[in-house]
Amino acid sequence: MAIPAHYIQELLQRNNIVDAISAHVHLKRNGRIYKGLCPFHSERTPSFTVYPDTQSYYCFGCGAGGDVISFTKEINGLTYIETIKMLAQQSGMPLPDEDDKLSRLKSRIYEMNKIAARYFHANLNSENGKNARAYLRQRQLSDKTIVNFGLGYAGDDWRGLCNYLKSKGFTENEMVSAYLVGRSDKGNVYDIFRNRVMFPIIDLRGNVIAFGGRLMEGNGPKYLNSGDTPVFKKSNGLFALNIAKKSGKDSFILAEGYMDVISLHQAGFNNAIATLGTALTNQQAKLIADYAKNVVIAYDSDDAGQKATRRAMDIFSKEDVIVQVLQMSGAKDPDEYIKKFGRERFEMLINKADSALDFEIYKLRQQYDIKDTQGRIDYLTKACDILASIPSPILQDVYCSRLANETGTDKNSIKLQLEQSKNKAYRNNQYQRSKEILKEGIAGSIKVDYRQQGNTLPKVFAQQQIISAMIRDNDIFNLVNSQLTEDDFTDLNMKNAFVQYKTLKEEGQDVSYALLCHLLDEETRKILAKINVDNADIIITQNDLQMHIDNLKSAPMGQNEIRQTSVEDLQKRIESLKEKRK
Ligand code: UTP
Ligand code: MN
Repeated sequence: MAIPAHYIQELLQRNNIVDAISAHVHLKRNGRIYKGLCPFHSERTPSFTVYPDTQSYYCFGCGAGGDVISFTKEINGLTYIETIKMLAQQSGMPLPDEDDKLSRLKSRIYEMNKIAARYFHANLNSENGKNARAYLRQRQLSDKTIVNFGLGYAGDDWRGLCNYLKSKGFTENEMVSAYLVGRSDKGNVYDIFRNRVMFPIIDLRGNVIAFGGRLMEGNGPKYLNSGDTPVFKKSNGLFALNIAKKSGKDSFILAEGYMDVISLHQAGFNNAIATLGTALTNQQAKLIADYAKNVVIAYDSDDAGQKATRRAMDIFSKEDVIVQVLQMSGAKDPDEYIKKFGRERFEMLINKADSALDFEIYKLRQQYDIKDTQGRIDYLTKACDILASIPSPILQDVYCSRLANETGTDKNSIKLQLEQSKNKAYRNNQYQRSKEILKEGIAGSIKVDYRQQGNTLPKVFAQQQIISAMIRDNDIFNLVNSQLTEDDFTDLNMKNAFVQYKTLKEEGQDVSYALLCHLLDEETRKILAKINVDNADIIITQNDLQMHIDNLKSAPMGQNEIRQTSVEDLQKRIESLKEKRK
């Protein structure tokens, strides 16, 4: 929905970005900017930068950037309109008088999901649910567990839920957007979940946000899950997090499946959670790290499960959480293990779960024959590569001793090998880092590879500098507008920024970064946020500006010249041009 510029203007005046961010991040002043630890990724040294002059922020670590509205939106996980409302409320403004369609739809979906969950649950207890009850009994779930998880049954007919929701006053469109009902090519609606045992997925506020449904017999996918809806993103969701969070334990067990989690809870492990039929994502890992200090990965013991374990370990390594890996034999998953061997033995598995490092080395060890000289060398080389990535020298030493014992090799040679691995890792890092700088830096904003489309680079840089200068000083606009048209902006992001800026000016607005943001896409917002911060301590003179304008008007750099020019060189060159003009 469109909110008028004057409303946003007022909102921005009442919500200072430094105050808003200070509520979440401890900021330290440093000249014209503030710095702190980024709330959007985990880091130890501050790369999150706030620049009050333009009311913008940018993180040099993860590239997050924007204005007070995008910050509030991201940090609270709100929609755009919810954010506007929140900021309006906080600063005592009346709400924009447009009707808020998305918020309304969301609360309708929560309502519908709650009704659907009750409907499925009642169904399970009815005559209709006889088979489903028998199925759950055969899977050894108690009545208490069934109630705790709010399990249910979706009947066999095509319009059971559909008709029920209709009788409760919901429209077909609403049902479709909740992913409870599908629409055929001919336009007929039908229940998506049929003849399945239903597992409601509940968020931390207790809302039913989605469902998983298990087929009991017959053909079709074993599990069916809700797709993404306005209230649910599968890649963020975690099954039973609502219960695990309340368990009061600071260690979670991460399993693969719904049934594993339910079995674990029934056996007293009320800190078990699972992803929803997808591999672990960064967002899920972050969410887990928010609530737990420690995670025990208890994936299936088959190959797929072990592969997934490794992936999950990788993803967790970016978070501030200790990871352990549980090794199970004699059963394919925790559900089966508990049924076969009992809860005490599972508890023992948890207590002796390997650290992630042990797991890695154990897996590596299985690949080599260490009685063979070459096998031993290869194993030790690879093991040292793994050790090189851990930060603690003490731990490295402990593992060197173990490897020495295990392979009958002199510990000192292993330590020498470790040094080599560390050097290699360092070189790799440097290489990655310079590649990232190129990507994140100016080149990051270029749609085409600048090595092939060389002549775009300096032009894009000039365009970004011009827009950034116009944001900092509105008077500059006239100078730019008298010499350039939107067609001189060959970079689509900057072109759009220029056009929007011009429109706002024509409406008689003072154009600030934040006001402009309101009309820009996320990518453009981030690029400009970065330039704002980069330029925080630089005074852009009229001469600089003219240089950039001339640059846009002049012929492109020769291809060869560009090919040999790095981003740093370009920046240097521009600096030296500036020097000359002084
Ligand atoms: P599993 O097949 O291991 O499930 O898949 P499970 O929970 O152990 O199921 P039971 O014991 O056979 O009843 C692990 C998870 O992968 C997702 C589900 O989230 C499931 O819990 N999955 C699996 C799907 O989404 N679709 C499928 O068809 C299969
Ligand atoms: Mn299973």
